Amino acid sequence: MRRAGHGTSTSNFLAALCGLCLSMTMSASVANPGAELDVEERVSQLLEQMTLEEKLGQMSQLNASHGYPPEYLGDGLRHGRIGSVLNVVDVNVINELQRISVEESRLGIPLLVGRDVVHGFRTTLPIPLGQAATFNPDLARDGARLAAEEAASSGVNWTFAPMIDVTRDPRWGRIAESFGEDTYLTNRFAVALVGGFQGDDLTAHDTIAACAKHFAGYGASESGRDYNTTNIAEHELRNVYLPPFRETVDAGVLTFMAGFNDLNGVPATGNEFLMRKILRDEWGFDGLVVSDWGSIFQLQIHGFTADDKASALAAASAGIDMEMATHLYISHLEDLLEEGKIDIDAIDTAVANILRVKFRLGLFEDPYTRPDEHRSLADEGAMAIAKESALQSVVLLKNDGGALPLNAGSIDSVAIIGPLADAPYEQLGTWIFDGDPELTVTPLSAIRGLVGDSVEVRYVRAMENSRSRASEAFDEAVEAAAASDVALLFLGEESILSGEAHSRADISLPGDQRELVRRIRAAGRPVVAIIMAGRPLTLSDIVDDVDAILFAWHPGTMGGPAIADLVFGLESPSGKLPSTFPRMVGQVPIYYNQKNTGRPASPDRAVLIDEIDTRAAQTSLGNTSYHLDAGFTPLFPFGFGLSYTEFEYRDIEVSAAEMPSDGSLTISAQLTNVGDVAAEEVAQLYVRDLFANVTRPVRELKGFQRVRLEPGESRRVEFELQADDLAFYGRDMTRVVEPGDFHVWIGGNSDTQLQSEFRLVAADGDPSS
Ligand code: NOJ
Repeated sequence: MRRAGHGTSTSNFLAALCGLCLSMTMSASVANPGAELDVEERVSQLLEQMTLEEKLGQMSQLNASHGYPPEYLGDGLRHGRIGSVLNVVDVNVINELQRISVEESRLGIPLLVGRDVVHGFRTTLPIPLGQAATFNPDLARDGARLAAEEAASSGVNWTFAPMIDVTRDPRWGRIAESFGEDTYLTNRFAVALVGGFQGDDLTAHDTIAACAKHFAGYGASESGRDYNTTNIAEHELRNVYLPPFRETVDAGVLTFMAGFNDLNGVPATGNEFLMRKILRDEWGFDGLVVSDWGSIFQLQIHGFTADDKASALAAASAGIDMEMATHLYISHLEDLLEEGKIDIDAIDTAVANILRVKFRLGLFEDPYTRPDEHRSLADEGAMAIAKESALQSVVLLKNDGGALPLNAGSIDSVAIIGPLADAPYEQLGTWIFDGDPELTVTPLSAIRGLVGDSVEVRYVRAMENSRSRASEAFDEAVEAAAASDVALLFLGEESILSGEAHSRADISLPGDQRELVRRIRAAGRPVVAIIMAGRPLTLSDIVDDVDAILFAWHPGTMGGPAIADLVFGLESPSGKLPSTFPRMVGQVPIYYNQKNTGRPASPDRAVLIDEIDTRAAQTSLGNTSYHLDAGFTPLFPFGFGLSYTEFEYRDIEVSAAEMPSDGSLTISAQLTNVGDVAAEEVAQLYVRDLFANVTRPVRELKGFQRVRLEPGESRRVEFELQADDLAFYGRDMTRVVEPGDFHVWIGGNSDTQLQSEFRLVAADGDPSS
């Protein structure tokens, strides 16, 4: 992603923007006659004074980085034709845009200034999928707080994050921006990020509006191809894809963004069922809904409308309050009103939603940014959060024979090989408009810093980039590996291979990386793969050729020091997979919370392709739900992640055999660190509803907690489960807590076998039995 710019120097731009005004003032007390009234009164008083042109202006968001002449911008603001801008991050320019809006326009309405602050602003945190692997929403909240503080110092007051599209497709490039395949995990991160961005006081100078996106179902794009169609049955939509959005409404999120996707034949941007019935009527959301970039214009391309005017009508009728980047509202809503196709009430409601957000953010009191009152960018505290987040995000997938950690005291040399060992930009990942690769600490430099002179480091990049097919440098890499005590291979995907519009059909290691692994393997030294990527990869074809695998996602600015600490055992890995890792791409979608089917596969009934002539002929095996050439299990399941120590789970207990449908119970298990290093474990609680009026998943995550245990230390991990946590949308699309039998598990991943059970019974007076 390119950085936004405006093609002219700030001072020239400002001079042109400002026109005749000679000095810029930043008075905190802008025209603000109704400050003492409550927000609703202020919204309606302001609305009463607005002309239609001013109303439509509020509904319009302009992309300020698209080379509009400053005079055009200034003029638009003075005439109240722009309600929001995006992609301008120069604080002086933003202050001037605000000044023109509040001091030179008729009604003095301040601007919303939007930006994609997705995983950090200047300091880059791990990609959201990596943050999800921490299973630590509190840490993610700290990260979002940091991002908000940094972004706010440039005048940004609205981020287009968090992206809370549940997705079960690692081919989809935007899985990097997501929190993975699980609804409950996404719920927890959604709330944490909204809390981090919006803080405790929306009017504070360092809080910014969050945006729950993309409403809804975009993560189910067919074949993982970005922008593709989605078809999601309503109960699946309500049970899997919508809950994180609902959670953000309850957490007070100020804004929503519509998805690009066609959902069940109706593009989200023109989808009244989503925007009105669910979001407004059922959930009571009263903030603003913005379209995605050009998504109103795209309604016609979808084949949903005949022309631009019909697109404006469809989006406005569906309840899209603000149009991002295109001008269809400004061009057509007035005519549509005159023709009686849309009601002024619909326009007023949209404008009220926008103004409400501006009032809630305190922009009418003070729209200006004074950088000296803000946290400085990328300070020491920021680096500490970025490092901790990276540390907890790395997942140890394999560690044969204790290949890791390395002991700096007992090895003389290490070969560091691969295109991602020293690639400051690539390790930051997708959506880093404002990130700075100059701040990046790469694994190569961090390891050099950590081991000093005591361990010789031989570095061979071996490949120009992750896609490279040139293998001339492989000989040198093999020599370095052969001459060293251990080879650390830094593999994966460059940042450009994931993110928006960057989907892949083959999710194995790109380029000649597999060949590089085989060549290094043949050098005969222990091989450790450290993989950075924006998605789960298929690793079946390298997993047997390496002794250990650390999966580091795109770990951000401080990825290097985090990886160095893990490789040399200063810390033990504690990340867990937020997404299932398939054996091969043809298994996708493969996710842990699948349905059972009528013919579930089991190890004794799955006859694989090479066994057809022997096993299948002998018995009536087969005829269950699996792939002949892949079986039915993933390479690594959801929730999986090893540690340098070993954790043992035993003695699962449920506090009561029965739980009333208005009650709760406690499920606990004994967790012991039976290894010899202190480490953190993410203990997980899974539940299965054995039968219901719609089929329920074979397992569902319902709780998790990070626990730090010293060697030999043991603790009871306890999860309180409310009956309401078991509610789901049934056949009639109502949310129900349905009595019946449940299984529960506690363990270190979604495949845990430590199981117990309980029965949910109707509480006295509960008719739902
Ligand atoms: C398109 C993306 O889908 C959306 O997530 C983003 O916020 C907007 N562009 C603005 O950059």
